[in-house]
Amino acid sequence: MKSFLSLAQARRSTRKFTEDAIPQEILQTILQGALLSPASKRSNPWEFIVVDDKELLLQLSTAKPHSGTFIKDCATAIVVCADTQKSDVWVEDTSIASIFIQLAAEDLGLGSCWVQIRKREHESGEMASEYIKKLLQIPEHYEVASIIAIGYKADERKSADLEKLMYDKIHTNTFSASQTSKDL
Ligand SMILES: Cc1cc2nc3c(=O)[nH]c(=O)nc-3n(C[C@H](O)[C@H](O)[C@H](O)COP(=O)(O)O)c2cc1C
Repeated sequence: MKSFLSLAQARRSTRKFTEDAIPQEILQTILQGALLSPASKRSNPWEFIVVDDKELLLQLSTAKPHSGTFIKDCATAIVVCADTQKSDVWVEDTSIASIFIQLAAEDLGLGSCWVQIRKREHESGEMASEYIKKLLQIPEHYEVASIIAIGYKADERKSADLEKLMYDKIHTNTFSASQTSKDL
């Protein structure tokens, strides 16, 4: 079993996918990972829409003008949305679920990329979330937070180098004291 750190190191955004479909049991495990993500007060405001229909993937890839076009080439996209009436911290809850999905995908040998939807606009000027809500028949009081594009990696990216992490972002006791190396 991979350690958490090696999983976190290996997870790099994948934007180029092979044409292979994701086996049902693998997808099932990823979705179990999503459902295991913690949410404030256990309100679990999230819903996950699993999209593998090619035409819908194409339409999702135009939800915003840039940086989501590769959705059309992924095997499956998981649209992460939330009932905004269930929690005032649905943004945090959906973000945690999104990264759980990405780490589960990596653990199972798949690549993924987070595509930001919340606060982004469709080329028509309407919010990307509204465009997706109409496309996927999501109820009015829900918001779409992200789309996680998943598939088999067409090219392998290097794992992150532990030696090159930004250790100066770690502060001990007060903000002014930051680390200069990985040694605590
Ligand atoms: C909140 C969030 C939003 C992101 N939105 C996009 C996006 O819309 N399109 C995209 O291609 N990548 C997106 N990414 C991926 C980041 O660009 C990527 O994680 C970052 O550059 C670090 O690279 P790595 O994932 O390979 O380590 C997003 C990542 C996060 C965490």
